[in-house]
Amino acid sequence: MYNRKAEPYKIKMVEPIKLISREERERKIAEVGYNQFALRSEDVFIDLLTDSGTGAMSDWQWAGIMQGDEAYAGSRSFYNLEKSVQDIIGYTYFVPTHQGRGAENVLFPLLIKQKGHYVLGNMHFDTTKAHIELKGGRAINLVIEEAYETEKEHPFKGNFDLEKLEAFIKEKGVENCSFVLITVTCNSAGGQPVSMENIKGVKKIADQYGLRVFFDAARFAENAYFIKQREAGYENKTIPEIILEMFSYGEGLTMSAKKDGIVNMGGMIAIKEDEELYTQVRSMVVPIEGFPTYGGLAGRDMEALARGLREVVEEDYLESRIGQIEYLGQRLTDAGIPIQRPVGGHAVFVDCKKFCPHIPYHQFPAQAVCVELYKEAGVRGVEIGSFLLGRDPETGEHLESPMEFLRLTIPRRVYTDRHMDVVADALIEIWKRRETLKGFDFTYEPEVLRHFTAKLKPVE
Ligand code: F0G
Repeated sequence: MYNRKAEPYKIKMVEPIKLISREERERKIAEVGYNQFALRSEDVFIDLLTDSGTGAMSDWQWAGIMQGDEAYAGSRSFYNLEKSVQDIIGYTYFVPTHQGRGAENVLFPLLIKQKGHYVLGNMHFDTTKAHIELKGGRAINLVIEEAYETEKEHPFKGNFDLEKLEAFIKEKGVENCSFVLITVTCNSAGGQPVSMENIKGVKKIADQYGLRVFFDAARFAENAYFIKQREAGYENKTIPEIILEMFSYGEGLTMSAKKDGIVNMGGMIAIKEDEELYTQVRSMVVPIEGFPTYGGLAGRDMEALARGLREVVEEDYLESRIGQIEYLGQRLTDAGIPIQRPVGGHAVFVDCKKFCPHIPYHQFPAQAVCVELYKEAGVRGVEIGSFLLGRDPETGEHLESPMEFLRLTIPRRVYTDRHMDVVADALIEIWKRRETLKGFDFTYEPEVLRHFTAKLKPVE
């Protein structure tokens, strides 16, 4: 793990970053109410807030930017992207959207036919859940229990609990279910993969009850890489073969292309063969995103995505990418720091319930570690726990998240292992003095999506 192969690329252009002094970092984070979302990126040294739209494009993608065809209708770049989608995903139809949630916004109302209907997922991402709920649906998480046990090794912690899935359909009645959504990899569980066997199992149950299967495909290539690494029978298959098989079990997908598309903005809806659904999507996309041959993207963005999709399936790229996450995860594990194990595809998730057991959930233990990491080394991570979860709309009480994670999300092709060392060294220092960390209270708490704009103060 420590002696892994070198990156399969070299650096042609650099973007300077600067570490401001500790005093400045302490002042800046206090000024923004201890909320890392309110920091200016110029005050951040290593930015691990998200892997979404933060990747580095290749020279081939940048060349594509210059060659983008900006025609309103029938753009050459659209057809180049269509060819990539057909070759790599294996679906016939697609429309570009400005990002993943744009795709959700167009597709979900077509699938959720009645208010109160359930959308059955392994674990829905928050904007996905929000779009399901905005359309009147109810987002249900049916991930396996092992996903919640961070120290327990399991190769596919993103798997559906198939028994739970079937029991849920039986209990609520299939007429009250809209569709099944498989998120690959499962971001909210820690970037955890779903096995091919599990995908097949989901499809079998869905077929039995006449339910449709869709994918949330934001990190599809990373999922395929884990299948190749960890699932018997796939070790000699190529990544493109695995991806084609994976998607063959679904009818369509939404994708945030800001992750495995390796572009800074973009998304899509793709549909395997249902022409009627495609026709509906095409007419819905016009008023919401744009004409179907650009749907919210510039021609140049479609060109970059057409190329990004071909690059992301290269095995040496994926080996280097996921190897870097494993490298950071291993350094933390070796120091005794509790993380979601094994590490996922896009981030290391630090288990802050175990890191700071003395801080109660309503004082946000993962936010405490997050703030400390910024002070220590200018590293910006993100809290995925009770701070993000919010309050119970009925009782007004803080909800307790089953997991209190600090997510260290690694952008694609951006940082070197030396940067990972800075992150690991800083976190190890904090681990040594973890008892001294303090939780937070609100000084300002907005009603919705509070973690983005809230202001906090340390608990005395
Ligand atoms: N689905 C998953 C699994 C995601 O992780 C995201 C975004 C989306 C859908 C929405 O896509 O941002 O393009 O609209 N995740 C980002 C993150 C924001 O930081 O994990 P989008």
